[in-house]
Amino acid sequence: MGSNTPSSDLSHPESTSPLITLTNPTPAELPKIFTLSHPKWGPALTLQDYLDREAYLTTVPLSKNGGITHWLLTLAAAPESERPILASCESIKKRAFYTTPTGEVREGVAHGVASVFTDPKYRGKGYASRMMSDLGKRLKDWQGGEEKKVVFSVLYSDIGKGFYAKHGWAPFQSSHVAWTPAESSGERAKGVKTIGYHELAELCAVDERLLKERLAKLAKADGGRKRHVSLAPELDQLLWHMMREDFMTKHIFGKTPDVRGAVWGEKGKRVWAVWTRGYYGGLEKTEGNTLHVLRVVVEDEEHTSEDDLVEGFKAIVTIARAEAKEWRSHDVQMWNPTSTVRKLVEKSGVEYEFVERDKESIASLMWYGEEPAEDVDWVANEKYAWC
Ligand SMILES: CC(C)(COP(=O)(O)OP(=O)(O)OC[C@H]1O[C@@H](n2cnc3c(N)ncnc32)[C@H](O)[C@@H]1OP(=O)(O)O)[C@@H](O)C(=O)NCCC(=O)NCCS
Repeated sequence: MGSNTPSSDLSHPESTSPLITLTNPTPAELPKIFTLSHPKWGPALTLQDYLDREAYLTTVPLSKNGGITHWLLTLAAAPESERPILASCESIKKRAFYTTPTGEVREGVAHGVASVFTDPKYRGKGYASRMMSDLGKRLKDWQGGEEKKVVFSVLYSDIGKGFYAKHGWAPFQSSHVAWTPAESSGERAKGVKTIGYHELAELCAVDERLLKERLAKLAKADGGRKRHVSLAPELDQLLWHMMREDFMTKHIFGKTPDVRGAVWGEKGKRVWAVWTRGYYGGLEKTEGNTLHVLRVVVEDEEHTSEDDLVEGFKAIVTIARAEAKEWRSHDVQMWNPTSTVRKLVEKSGVEYEFVERDKESIASLMWYGEEPAEDVDWVANEKYAWC
């Protein structure tokens, strides 16, 4: 061989080696990457359905047309057809808002990082660490521009708060309210309507306007000291969740749901919630299935009586719980409610549990500005932002 280095070391060198690079997989490498992660993330689907889903997820709003980027840690000099898959992940480009020290609300780019994975045979060698450390820096200049710079990236850790924090993604509030599914479908309250695909665009436009106003208010209140940031709760962001849900429900139940949320009240004084059903356990292990409330909006808290809001909120929760029962979800979860929504949860009188997560789905954010993470206030840190 003419060298003392065993060939196995050349195919997977030390994680700090300059031979290693972070790049983008070829179309031929993608199924190899997904085949590796299928046992972890696809148990509700056959391997072929999981491969089809991942391909389909590059064609839906938000991730289509290059919105999603797949990342691969591998050997820089190896031919593409033979190079090892040392670690992999993906990022999705998203619209984001942030406040400046002078209190303006600006729009920028954020990235959502997901599917961080190392082949079991390569684990514990520092490859995921190397990938995340390279990726954090790479994303700062990825798909941004002069007008709309990249302001932050987010991810949701399922392995606690330490690993990603070490690489620059600080943990943020990660709590949720959980309700059990309804025991029976029950009566639907007057004044509440279900939300389908066709209602979403109008609701998202109102939500975005209200959210920007809220960010401006927060910036004004603290004199511009903190950066108040949000991911846009826009239509494409919701459709990304719902089209993923469609794929899953079609494969598990042979049909797709009509009820994507519920809204109560007259225009201008509405309260609404939109949701998506997530399936990790399929029908065999329903503990892995959750009806996730993606976003809750109270349109005009100041001019709507609390009694009305409580009544509306209760009616919405009742529908969500009935949907959870019908669609075999283990629970209904609503992430990081605002203090207003928390009050509605209490007063609506529906039994619930409040959970502070310390291991799974830890909302984490890397801020690309000068300020430390403590000076960043993540507003609307709700499930819609997840990927
Ligand atoms: C998590 C994962 C990506 C780590 O990959 P890896 O290449 O072995 O990671 P590294 O060798 O760079 O670092 C391992 C570190 O991750 C930590 N880690 C790995 N699995 C963990 C777990 N389940 N819970 C908490 N920490 C974990 C190790 O303790 C170690 O910490 P250290 O840096 O303080 O020593 C890999 O175990 C994996 O693919 N797991 C299945 C998919 C998954 O859970 N991905 C994370 C989704 S958020």
